[in-house]
Amino acid sequence: MEKPRYYFVDDRSTANIDFSNLGFDYIPCPYRFEAVFEHGIWRVRGLLEDGTMHLREGSQGLHYGQQLFEGMKVQRGSDDRIYAFRPRDNSRRMNDGARYLCGAEVPEELFIRGLEEVVQANLPYIPPAGSGAALYIRPMWLGVGDNVGVKPAADYVFRIFVTPVGPYFKGGFGPDQGKSCMVSAHDRAAPCGSGHIKAGGNYAASFKSGTQAKAAGFADALFLDPAERRYIEEIGAANFLAFKGDALITPDSGSILPSITRKSLLQIASEIFGWPTEERKIAIDELDEVAAAACCGTAAVITWISRIVDGDRSWDFPFDERWQRLYDELQGIQTGAKDDPFGWRHEITG
Ligand SMILES: Cc1ncc(COP(=O)(O)O)c(C=O)c1O
Repeated sequence: MEKPRYYFVDDRSTANIDFSNLGFDYIPCPYRFEAVFEHGIWRVRGLLEDGTMHLREGSQGLHYGQQLFEGMKVQRGSDDRIYAFRPRDNSRRMNDGARYLCGAEVPEELFIRGLEEVVQANLPYIPPAGSGAALYIRPMWLGVGDNVGVKPAADYVFRIFVTPVGPYFKGGFGPDQGKSCMVSAHDRAAPCGSGHIKAGGNYAASFKSGTQAKAAGFADALFLDPAERRYIEEIGAANFLAFKGDALITPDSGSILPSITRKSLLQIASEIFGWPTEERKIAIDELDEVAAAACCGTAAVITWISRIVDGDRSWDFPFDERWQRLYDELQGIQTGAKDDPFGWRHEITG
């Protein structure tokens, strides 16, 4: 079947948006992609103009949190091409979640088709190269149907909407943009629970911590491991990174989200820069020996952490040039400005 075409990738028209001054907010775009799982098969609804979803009131996604989402960025490169970054990894992570929540997996090719169609349909909303902004891609999945019992749904909706975004943390990346975090008194996920999947309920459970941290003047909350409250987990919606001596270290935990950005940075660090990397438990007390701290994610990219406060204890960290090198390499690969030795770019062609 011929794919619907609204724009061609070599069409340079852009929406009337001040792309250089965007925050991380929802700006409606004309089209979203949707598919439904009914009678045991996926059916493509295609590109829709309606940004309001019409759901059965008994849907498990609404009552029992049988729901997942993903987050990706598409950027117009310095070579004027359009790139997504490792979208198949997001598809696999969403399906890890679907299996954990006992629902229907979204076929990888359907996920990729949805990504390509929705990006092509909203082409003028991709920020120009160099604006510091990106088109944020939000795939979502939820169990639907007429139901009241506590059990997985038979039917599912998979939707992808897009919205142009600027930096997640105000100010973005830079030596003068250190962010502070407060160790939360609450946990976002249980030790053997759902912390490793991108289920919406994990985020609802993190709102109290994030709200308290922001009210106290911090950029975000830092979570400790929920079993012993001794080891660092992650920071808001981003994984934790630190330099201890020469090594780039990051927490090993079954209750944090396995970040695709982190996985990429670890590979850049070890295979491009030749730095030692360690994925292991990091006790909060070990911050005494840490030279520099940061967090990373699709939205946060790399954000360096200048201060961590835990009750009456605190740690201050300087900016480290190695964050800049990692940031430049990652951004360079994502935007076509650098070689892509690992095959991470996914070009969207019209
Ligand atoms: C809880 C949490 N941790 C880490 C990340 C970073 O993951 P990724 O690099 O795949 O975006 C995210 C965001 O997506 C997140 O929500």
